[in-house]
Amino acid sequence: MAIPQSFLDDLTARCPIEEVVADYVALTPKGGNLWGLCPFHSEKTPSFSVSPDKHIFHCFGCGKGGGVIRFVMEMESLSFPEAVRKLAARAGLEMPEEDQEAQRRRAHRRRLLELNRDAARFYYETLKSPQGEPMLRYAQEKRRLTPTYIKRFGLGAAPNAWDSLIRAMTAQGYKKGELLETGLAVAGKNGGVYDKFRNRLMLPVIDAAGDILGFTSRVMDDSAPKYLNTPETALFKKRGILYGINFAKLTKRGFFLLVEGNLDVITLHQAGIDNAVATMGTALTADHARLIGRYTHDLVLCYDNDSAGVEATQRAMTVLRDTDFNVRVLQLPRRRTESGELVKQDPDDFIKFQGPAAFETLLSGSEDQTAYRLEVVAGKHDLTSNEGKVAYFKDIVPVLAGLPSAVEREIYAARVAKEVDISKDAVLHEVNAYRQGQARRARRQRERAALTPAANVQPKARSLRYEDPRSARAEEGVIRLLFLDPTLLERCGELEPETFSVPLWGKLFGLLRDRGGEAVSPAALDGELSADEADLLSHLLQGPQSLAESRQAMGDYIEIIRAQAAKRLGGAGDPVADLLATQAKRKQKDRMGG
Ligand code: GTP
Ligand code: MN
Repeated sequence: MAIPQSFLDDLTARCPIEEVVADYVALTPKGGNLWGLCPFHSEKTPSFSVSPDKHIFHCFGCGKGGGVIRFVMEMESLSFPEAVRKLAARAGLEMPEEDQEAQRRRAHRRRLLELNRDAARFYYETLKSPQGEPMLRYAQEKRRLTPTYIKRFGLGAAPNAWDSLIRAMTAQGYKKGELLETGLAVAGKNGGVYDKFRNRLMLPVIDAAGDILGFTSRVMDDSAPKYLNTPETALFKKRGILYGINFAKLTKRGFFLLVEGNLDVITLHQAGIDNAVATMGTALTADHARLIGRYTHDLVLCYDNDSAGVEATQRAMTVLRDTDFNVRVLQLPRRRTESGELVKQDPDDFIKFQGPAAFETLLSGSEDQTAYRLEVVAGKHDLTSNEGKVAYFKDIVPVLAGLPSAVEREIYAARVAKEVDISKDAVLHEVNAYRQGQARRARRQRERAALTPAANVQPKARSLRYEDPRSARAEEGVIRLLFLDPTLLERCGELEPETFSVPLWGKLFGLLRDRGGEAVSPAALDGELSADEADLLSHLLQGPQSLAESRQAMGDYIEIIRAQAAKRLGGAGDPVADLLATQAKRKQKDRMGG
C-alpha cells in the first residue's frame, strides 16, 4: 500500500520524535540533543541521542538511527505501514483509504485474530469453570503456576467435548469456515467439523505486537501427542514464532534466554527471568534470529542436557555464526534422584528442585561460546589415550587461534594444556604459528582480490567505503544542507542523482528533489529506505553543518561533484594511470588492514 506523502508529513508533524521516543526511553537534554540508554543494544552510559531539530534519533554505540517511524518500526518490530498505523492512532489521525484488495486482506486478518482472541477468552473462562478443573489443577499443582502467571500468559482449558468451542464461537457470529481457517476446528470425514483442541491445557501463542496467532496445548497425562499446536495457517507460521516474545521484549536484562519448552518459558518468567523465549518445538531459524535481533544481539542458549539438546545448540550456533550475535551457552547440571540416578533437567525441573536463585547464579556464570566449543571438541576425543590427546590438540588449535583476544587465548591455552598434559607455552607456540600461517593466507587473498576489480564491490552494511572520497564528502554536504534548508534545491540546477558517486546519497538526492523544495522530515523517508540506509542517513545528519554561507557552500559542493564525476567517467586524465593509482591505493589500504 502506498501511503500518501502528504499524510506522512502531517503524521510526523503531529508526532514529535522526542515525545514518541520518550514513551519508551528516559531522555535527558544535553547540548541541544536529548540523550538516553539505547533501547536497541545494552549499554550503561547513554550513547543514544534524539535530535528534535533534525527529527532523528541516532545511537553512537550501535549505529541505529532514523526518523520517528523507523523508531517505532524497530521498537515494536512493526512493518512500515504498521508503524504508521500505530503513530496515526497515537496522534488521533484517520488513516487514508487503502486500495480495496489490501483493505479486504487486512480486515480478514483482523477478523481471524479477533476470533483467536475470543477463543482464548472462552478457554480462559472454561479454566475457571467446573469443566476446567482438571486443567487448573494440572497448572497449579503439577506445574506450580500461580494464578497471576496463569492469567498473565492467558492459559485456558479446552473442554473434553467435540464442539464446545465451535458452538460458543458460532453463537458469537463466527462462521465455521473462519474456525477452520484459524485451525481451531478441523473437518471430519463426513462433512462435519469438530474442535481441534479437546481436553487440554491451552497456551495462546502471542506475537510481539500482542496478537494471538494460535495456540499450543498440553495433555495432562502421559498420552500422546504431549503437545498439540495450531497447524500452519496464514497467521501461524512456526518458523518465525517465539513464544514469550511479547513479554521478553520488555526485559531490562539486555539479553534473551532461549529455552526448548513453552511451559519452561512461563516457569522462568514466574521466577523473575523475564527474558525467556522458546521456539515452537522447532530448530532456531534465521527468521527467529532476525526477530530476536530487533531487541538484542546477546543470546543465552539453554537447551536440554541430552544429545538432542547438544545437537540443537550446535544447529542454533550455525544459524547465528554469521551474525553479530553474542552467544553463550547455559548447561543445566544433571540432577541426582533419590535412588541415586543422574537425570537431565530442563529449566522447569531445575527451578522446581533448586529454586530461582540457583538459576540466576547459573545464568550469570553461563559459560561462553568458547568454553562450550572446547568442550564439544573435547567430547569427540578420548583424552585418556595419547592418540586421543594428539587428535584433540590438532582439532583445538584452530579454535584457539580464532579467538580475537590474547587474554582469552592464554586462558584457554592453559585449560587445554592441562587436558593434554603439556606446557601452556607449547600450546601457545602452536596457536601462534597457526595464526601466522592464517595471516599469510589472508594477505595473499587480499592481494588477489585487489587485482580483481569485481571483488571490490561496495560494502552493504553500516560502513560505507567511498570509492571517491572527495566527491562523497561533497555529496554528504549537499544532503545535509537540503535537510536543513530545502529551498537550497534551487541552487542544484541540473544536478542528477546519477552524478553522485555514492548510490545512497544519489538516491536521497533524488527523493529530496522529487519533493520540490518542501521541508522533509527524515521520518517521511523511513518507508523508502532500508534499515541500513536509515542508519547511514541518521549518522550523516548527526554530522555538523553550518547554514552560514550555505548558498555558497552548496555551489562549491556541486562543483566538486560535477568535476569528480567528469574525472571518474574519464573526461580528464589518463584512464590507465587512474586505474593503476586506485589499485595502488587499494593495496595500501588493505595492507593497513582497512
Ligand atoms: P513438559 O515439561 O513435559 O511439559 O515438556 P517440556 O516443556 O519439558 O518439553 P519437551 O522437552 O518434551 O519439549 C519441548 C518443546 O517441544 C515443547 O514445548 C513443544 O513445543 C515441543 N514438543 C514436545 N512434544 C511435542 C509433541 O508431542 N508435539 C509437538 N508438536 N511438539 C512437541
Ligand atoms: Mn519440562
